[in-house]
Amino acid sequence: MSSSATMAVAEVSSASYTKTRLLKSSQISSLSTHLHKHRHCAFRPLPRTQHARISCSVAPNQVEAPIPVQAEDPKNKSCYGVFCLTYDLKAEEETKSWKKLINVAVSGAAGMISNHLLFKLASGEVFGPDQPITLKLLGSERSIQALEGVAMELEDSLYPLLREVSIGIDPYEVFQDAEWALLIGAKPRGPGMERADLLDINGQIFAEQGKALNAVASRNVKVIVVGNPCNTNALICLKNAPNIPAKNFHALTRLDENRAKCQLALKAGVFYDKVSNMTIWGNHSTTQVPDFLNARIDGLPVKEVIKDHKWLEEEFTEKVQNRGGVLIKKWGRSSAASTAVSVVDAIKSLVTPTPEGDWFSTGVYTNGNPYGIAEDIVFSMPCRSKGDGDYELVKEVKFDDYLWNRIKKSEAELQAEKRCVAHLTGEGVGFCDLPEDTMLPGEV
Ligand code: LMR
Repeated sequence: MSSSATMAVAEVSSASYTKTRLLKSSQISSLSTHLHKHRHCAFRPLPRTQHARISCSVAPNQVEAPIPVQAEDPKNKSCYGVFCLTYDLKAEEETKSWKKLINVAVSGAAGMISNHLLFKLASGEVFGPDQPITLKLLGSERSIQALEGVAMELEDSLYPLLREVSIGIDPYEVFQDAEWALLIGAKPRGPGMERADLLDINGQIFAEQGKALNAVASRNVKVIVVGNPCNTNALICLKNAPNIPAKNFHALTRLDENRAKCQLALKAGVFYDKVSNMTIWGNHSTTQVPDFLNARIDGLPVKEVIKDHKWLEEEFTEKVQNRGGVLIKKWGRSSAASTAVSVVDAIKSLVTPTPEGDWFSTGVYTNGNPYGIAEDIVFSMPCRSKGDGDYELVKEVKFDDYLWNRIKKSEAELQAEKRCVAHLTGEGVGFCDLPEDTMLPGEV
């Protein structure tokens, strides 16, 4: 606590980055009332090594108890627990060259994938050690208690870079000013559920979230759709968000890329960091195409290193395509930790320059693609980034009949999925004529 009559506090603001101003002691209690009313302010904890010196900026003799956010209805809260408090600024923190605060929204925030992901985001592992972050967590009516549990664990982790946390069940509130939206929440496919049913149920969620992003998120928000069927969910989302560039929407196929790298490394007897230029083409389903024609091991074409081409065409391809399903059988649920890791990889690929000569896979909107893949679907393709959040499609890839025929199969599947959800993309009446059920089996 400052001994002088003035003290630095965070300015009460619902959206902007914390700015400091000086308040006289006499102004503090009215600030406290203000905080109660608005229930949203930024805070500035100290670096982890300086916990003992963290102090609330509201003078103890003027305020009896911390802001009683725990007692409120969590559904109405815009900030959570300690993240509603205002802290003294310390000189050493002011001189830090931290970047401007970024807002990251996460849906399905009380789920297993988020439980791994949120702590990575808060730690600085994803956006860097100089990037303070706001986490805006979207749950459902049913998961709100669990979401509070997540927020409590984030509180208890004392992450210096985690400046604000809010939880809620209304995407129009939670997505406000989001610069990244990680859309994880979706219904898993239950036993006996048809793929068309899942497309419809989850499609409705993503249509609503697309509308919410369109209304309240940053105009350049980057959206990564994880909830399955993620390609078509991403398409629905972008169609419902016409004011956000379609290019900004991604369907997560990075997990498939990582799985493919692992299998090639195993077969070649090298560690997986030797595998590069790995493309996953198409849908995040069992029609996906792990491309061993363009991938490299230790800088050499895969086919020169792995001479067993029958293995590549049959076992390798199938292993990667079915890995998620096999995992579900083992776990009784979908992969969570490795999915979270792959979301981290996907973000890092967009915020750091792609290593020279390499590329990464992500499911993106096909309009204007140089390969001849049908337009107006979300298809996994090889990309490079300068590290500015944007990307370009890689031009120098080759195709043979094997690769192209499989790409066409995945393309046909995505076009069929698109017809199924026409009622959610504003393109008429949905009609499902899915040729075969190629999606992963789903959780029991
Ligand atoms: C995975 O690839 O592990 C998941 O997307 C599978 C699933 O259906 O949840």
